[in-house]
Amino acid sequence: MRVVVLTGAGISAESGLSTFRDSGGLWEGHDPMQVATPEAFAADPDLVQRFYDERRAALARVRPNAAHDALVRLERALGDDLLVVTQNVDDLHERAGATRVHHIHGRLQSAWCTTCDERHEWDGPLGHGPPCPWCGQATLRPDIVWFGEIPYGMDLVEQALWDCDLFVSIGTSGVVYPAAAFVHSARGATLELNLEPSEGASAFAESRQGPATQLVPAWVDELLGEATRTSS
Ligand code: APR
Repeated sequence: MRVVVLTGAGISAESGLSTFRDSGGLWEGHDPMQVATPEAFAADPDLVQRFYDERRAALARVRPNAAHDALVRLERALGDDLLVVTQNVDDLHERAGATRVHHIHGRLQSAWCTTCDERHEWDGPLGHGPPCPWCGQATLRPDIVWFGEIPYGMDLVEQALWDCDLFVSIGTSGVVYPAAAFVHSARGATLELNLEPSEGASAFAESRQGPATQLVPAWVDELLGEATRTSS
């Protein structure tokens, strides 16, 4: 059973990280065109750096939840037959113990030098213009895929969707592409787990509503239960 799981901000909501489009979400307090585009970074780098410095600092105050943990249990059972493709830039999947995670929108804890093109693991702020550890230039930007930029590793993702037996989408509103179109590329069965039906809910064979910390562990139990039954 080859499984591809897509996660969005909803899987980290119960850990205390804001989503983007829910009430009280990040895009209520910030104009995405002012903080999440290359044009915005060129126009006002301090504003953009401050936005991501605050989000990077917030990571230290939260921890993975039962939904992240359940996907690690699934990884332990499926091994290489599981791929988690996340739109999230937080590290909660990895902190839960996940190893088969691909961040299509980048990571908060990575800094990208626009002079030497090197990327560096980064936990602290970038707002004060620290020098690149490689070339020394003060040209580090958040390693985040902004609106208008190309998500990372799309060939790998498209291949995994083509090969998968089951595609599951967790905690995403289904309004941002290309992730919102993955359900159409997935050749296997499709399932949505979300607090409310997403924009693309009708494209899924099944859509379940509820908090991720309840839906995901229950679904993993079900899948592993089925796997145990069919293998015995
Ligand atoms: N459990 C399950 N789902 C939840 C929970 C929860 N506890 N809380 C919220 N949700 C659902 C909401 O119903 C919503 O459908 O998670 C979804 C969050 O949607 P968005 O805020 O739009 O986040 P996401 O879909 O990840 O955004 C996609 O947009 O802003 C860009 O690059 C950014 O990666 C992001 C992309």
